[in-house]
Amino acid sequence: MTRIFVTRRIPEVGLSMLREQGFEVDINPENRILSKAELVSALSAKPYDGVLSLLTDTIDAEVLQALPSVKIFANYAVGFNNIDVAEATKRGVVVTNTPGALSETVAEHAMALMLAVSKRIVEAHNFTASGKYVGWDPLLFIGSDLEGETFGLLGLGRIGQRAAHIASRGFGMKLCYYDVQRNEAFEKEYGAVFYPTPEEMLPHADVVSLHVPLLPTTTHLMNAQRFALMKKTSIVINTSRGPVVDEKALVEALQQGTIAGAGLDVFEREPAIEEALKSMGNVVMTPHIASATRRARDEMATLAATNLIDFFAGKEPKNKVVV
Ligand code: GLV
Ligand code: GLV
Repeated sequence: MTRIFVTRRIPEVGLSMLREQGFEVDINPENRILSKAELVSALSAKPYDGVLSLLTDTIDAEVLQALPSVKIFANYAVGFNNIDVAEATKRGVVVTNTPGALSETVAEHAMALMLAVSKRIVEAHNFTASGKYVGWDPLLFIGSDLEGETFGLLGLGRIGQRAAHIASRGFGMKLCYYDVQRNEAFEKEYGAVFYPTPEEMLPHADVVSLHVPLLPTTTHLMNAQRFALMKKTSIVINTSRGPVVDEKALVEALQQGTIAGAGLDVFEREPAIEEALKSMGNVVMTPHIASATRRARDEMATLAATNLIDFFAGKEPKNKVVV
């Protein structure tokens, strides 16, 4: 009998796939994030063979050490910064993720935040809903156009490329990017300009959109020095991972007018958020929901389940993470 622990309820399609395999599937009965200690305790109840984990679960050396029966962590996310993959690999434990399933979805969310900030949608909604609209005004909520402006990407992976595609083909924006890996085919197709460092790219972008994985090298990728290189009229959009942005430096950049606005789906110490961000009209925030569409979440559930099923059938899971 293969025993799987699911750390939080996910869409039914994934759970049914696991049950149809004859796996014993236990789901965290509490509908909340488990602390590390609670996770270890829940996982110690039985000799589980596999875990379907979430980005909110910390799977570090201590957890791996405490759970010798677990042979695979199938992370329900494209990001896997919550798992010490090097340590898992050393112990012969497999880690998988769910790439592809949410690329378009997250790219669309980045666009939604970009539109919301540049057209001042949330501020204007609050104004309208609170009865303050008393008549058309030539100077009411002046925002900015996107057409002809430059969309600058830090990170041109699957999600970044989809965001760039929509920005370019949909809004007629120019593209520039920085990535550790240059993509000349992409440059040709979209007329995108590559810069070998963020420092060289930032002064050219009207919108800076972050699409990097969280790694030691991308932690605080956006810091005070780099905000200072952005145009005063530019905005930053983060749908990647919170710690990619130094959130205190972001607050300062917004307060001092170093940059014009921010659209944020992730936060450095989430669910905690820098207090000052909550009352800024030029900041639009969502609670880490960039992948939250029915299709994307079902597909993530299907992928995570497939990775577990393939693994226990003795096959190499398609989305095995290698570091
Ligand atoms: C979501 O943040 C993910 O990594 O899938
Ligand atoms: C996600 O699918 C990415 O790698 O950008």
